[in-house]
Amino acid sequence: MSFRLKDIVPWGRSFDEYVSMFDLSETDLRKTILGCCDGPASFNAILTRRGGYIVSVDPLYQFNTHEIRYLIDEIYPSIIEQTRRNQDNFVWTTIRTVNELGKLRMAAMNEFLSDYPSGRKQRRYISGKLPELPFPDGRFELAVCSHLLFLYSERLSGDFHLESIKELCRVAREVRIFPLVDLDSKPSRHVQPVTTLLKKNGYEVTFVNVPYEFQRGGTQMMRICRKQLQPLLEQKGSRNKSGCL
Ligand SMILES: C[S@@+](CC[C@H](N)C(=O)[O-])C[C@H]1O[C@@H](n2cnc3c(N)ncnc32)[C@H](O)[C@@H]1O
Repeated sequence: MSFRLKDIVPWGRSFDEYVSMFDLSETDLRKTILGCCDGPASFNAILTRRGGYIVSVDPLYQFNTHEIRYLIDEIYPSIIEQTRRNQDNFVWTTIRTVNELGKLRMAAMNEFLSDYPSGRKQRRYISGKLPELPFPDGRFELAVCSHLLFLYSERLSGDFHLESIKELCRVAREVRIFPLVDLDSKPSRHVQPVTTLLKKNGYEVTFVNVPYEFQRGGTQMMRICRKQLQPLLEQKGSRNKSGCL
């Protein structure tokens, strides 16, 4: 039995999960951050409360709070049921049961929903979608993208992945993507060809083990930076020759 979803669904993880998925240090959390496809995750709400700077972008934010609540309530039973039927695809150590998963996700999404009205006014939640983002070049130090690229490998083409990652690199100095497995917890078929093309196009790509595993085998993130011109790096006293400072 495989995991089937009609659409790319609104489903939100917690701040702590984001920290683990992207191996975020305290230094990272002080950067200007773009949360791409954050949907109803609580990362923006909690990071803002902790004094961080974050903007989230997602097509979901075209909707108001009531509409998003309705979408979450509509999809929730189906995701929980499919997770129950595909339990072997997941690692039940940190999250021990499907019921616990449901409670954790709903708590994160409720955090998001409480923050959403004020965050929308403050322009912390912006409606937009890959592969074109409504931000100027170099607006963010770090962009994170959780559970869209590579996860929906059946639905999103290799070209879409390539264009989206280049766009994320246009608006942010460093990009981190998690997971690198698809909905069936199989290694995404796009990872290798997209990596080859990115490298050919002058991007630095690295694979980093992270302290998070929920989908079985989903333990790595992709880290991408534009290679920068050497004189600029020397002026800034960077630690290496890549764009990843
Ligand atoms: C499974 S949710 C993941 C939410 C959050 N990142 C997390 O990990 O908890 C996928 C999100 O991707 C968003 N999405 C779908 N297509 C997108 C696109 N082209 N660009 C940006 N976000 C998109 C959906 O609206 C949804 O909120």
